[in-house]
Amino acid sequence: MELQILLSDHKTKYKQIYEQIQKAILDRKLPAHAKLSAKRRLAEQLNVSIMTVQMAYEQLQGEGYCYSVERKGYFVSEIQDEWHYSENDTATFEKRVQDEYLINFKNGQVDASAFPYKHWNRLYRKELSESNGSNAPWQGEYSFRVQIAQYLQQARGLACQPEQVYVFSGFQQQLLNVCLFFNRRAIGTEDPGFIRAKSVFEQLQLSCHPISVDEEGCRVPNEPVKLLYLTPAHQYPTGTIMSIARRAELLNWADKEDAHIIEDDYDSEFRYKGAPIPTLSHLDSKDRVLYFGTFSKTLLPSLRISYLVMPASLQQDFEKFNTYQKSTVSRIDQRVAANFMEEGNYTSHIAKMRTLYRGKRNCLIESLSNHLGEQFEIIGGTAGLHITVTLPEGLNESKAIELAKARGVEIDAVSPMYLLHKPNHQVMLGYGAPTMQEIQRGVHLIANVWQDYLSN
Ligand SMILES: Cc1ncc(COP(=O)(O)O)c(C=O)c1O
Repeated sequence: MELQILLSDHKTKYKQIYEQIQKAILDRKLPAHAKLSAKRRLAEQLNVSIMTVQMAYEQLQGEGYCYSVERKGYFVSEIQDEWHYSENDTATFEKRVQDEYLINFKNGQVDASAFPYKHWNRLYRKELSESNGSNAPWQGEYSFRVQIAQYLQQARGLACQPEQVYVFSGFQQQLLNVCLFFNRRAIGTEDPGFIRAKSVFEQLQLSCHPISVDEEGCRVPNEPVKLLYLTPAHQYPTGTIMSIARRAELLNWADKEDAHIIEDDYDSEFRYKGAPIPTLSHLDSKDRVLYFGTFSKTLLPSLRISYLVMPASLQQDFEKFNTYQKSTVSRIDQRVAANFMEEGNYTSHIAKMRTLYRGKRNCLIESLSNHLGEQFEIIGGTAGLHITVTLPEGLNESKAIELAKARGVEIDAVSPMYLLHKPNHQVMLGYGAPTMQEIQRGVHLIANVWQDYLSN
């Protein structure tokens, strides 16, 4: 039986020939031992090279759909009847249609258009040409650890040795390693808090205690926790800055309870009023604090580079725990970042971004104040890349998000960040990614639709 093969331009030709013959065999349209068209003939018929047909036949033969007989050609193999073929076996994955938004206030995004691509590209090409292809040590590239330690000393007043710095591929992978190192100790986490931290604790099935946050930051735990996850410089998501009194109380608590604190200093570079908030690690004289830093906010989240500063007294055990660990961060990326920092470009890039984000933040707050009126409260605008808006009575979180979505504006819910008492009257707006014009337009759109809803 002559098989009709139809070729399109969307896929490689050999793949199409292979798939159509394979399907005909599985559908029994080509019976066992039927001869496949001669390679030359099929090639002429389809206007492709003999090589293309040969590749398709070899693939079919390699997978057992046909066999070849010398000087005679290719023949369909016998495939047992009880082997049931389902359409799903060769199903192609359809492209998921994602919700399309005109304006994106989604949290966790940065202004990627301001990234120094040209410069990075140049450093990257140089690094590639010099790379010998080997991995970085699991702790991270030494030159990079030196740069991070220097940066922390200068920018965050945190004195540490490069040997205390460990490079990971993002917050969660780092947190996972640390929780395992502490042998799955019972953990306390801010409530409300960072949902991706909570998800790591859940994956590890840790005993996890929500610790409430008040106007001074996370309260001192009464719960039996031995590890406490905190965001002292800019509480996530409320934006509270932890008071000095609370910092001292927490450090004393950790010392007394033989507990440790994870300080997640994720966005402290972007503070728009007053001096930078000192780190908790800076005050820690008893080796109780593990410092978490990231390049996701200052450079790009897509780089996937984060780092941990281990207290000196835990270093040896941590090294032992990770003896057979391999680095999960590209050595090339690490060396590029190290060179970028060494040239002094990291700090100037942060300064440039701080100015940019301050402008966006002012624009967002001004637009919200102008369009929304006093029933809406704006919280946590002094630092970071997001703000929270408290909604007035009559408009809850899910309705506000739904109405914004209908206008093509994406905003985030706050309730998933709460563990115990979930409020339903707050939403979050990230201003890292949108332009000033988009911010103004986005606020205008949501303000109109929210006001209309409230007045009906
Ligand atoms: C609270 C918090 N911690 C840490 C991070 C860094 O996460 P990652 O290193 O996975 O990009 C973020 C980034 O959005 C964050 O919001």
